[in-house]
Amino acid sequence: MHRPKTFISALIVALAVAGCGGGTSEPVPTGPLGPGVAERGQAVYKSTCRSCHGGDATGISGLGKALKGSEFVAGLTEVELAEFVRVGRSPDHPDNTTGVDMPAMGGNPRLNDQQLRDVAAYLLSLN
Ligand code: HEC
Repeated sequence: MHRPKTFISALIVALAVAGCGGGTSEPVPTGPLGPGVAERGQAVYKSTCRSCHGGDATGISGLGKALKGSEFVAGLTEVELAEFVRVGRSPDHPDNTTGVDMPAMGGNPRLNDQQLRDVAAYLLSLN
């Protein structure tokens, strides 16, 4: 009865390796965000997102949707949300509900992956 056990161990190792090493196709890297994420995320929000989504994240008519209480936001992980913000949602996107553009990176192409994840974590903390 050695064979099945060996096979299962090999499978577990293979799955673990795939889970950790398969990051090449993942656009936003995972891993701990480190201390100070709330402050950093809020700073990104204030500098890049507030102008459209409002100081209290309840949205501004004709500019950006409410992010506080958003089911869309609440339904995503922090990494998924960071990926969404990186891409944005153009007016012709099938999920667009307002006909207004959500620009990629909130219109700030200098945001790095860490900042995208920080602001995503901040949004999730509001929901
Ligand atoms: C120029 C205005 C503008 C800026 C700046 C902006 N957004 Fe948006 N955002 C929008 C609009 C408009 C929508 C709604 C698009 C639609 O109709 O689905 C939106 C939608 C979203 C959504 C989806 C909400 C939902 O419930 O579907 C998220 C999340 C979001 N924005 C995050 C951000 C973040 C984070 C930033 C800053 C990094 C940012 N936005 C900056 C205009 C903006």
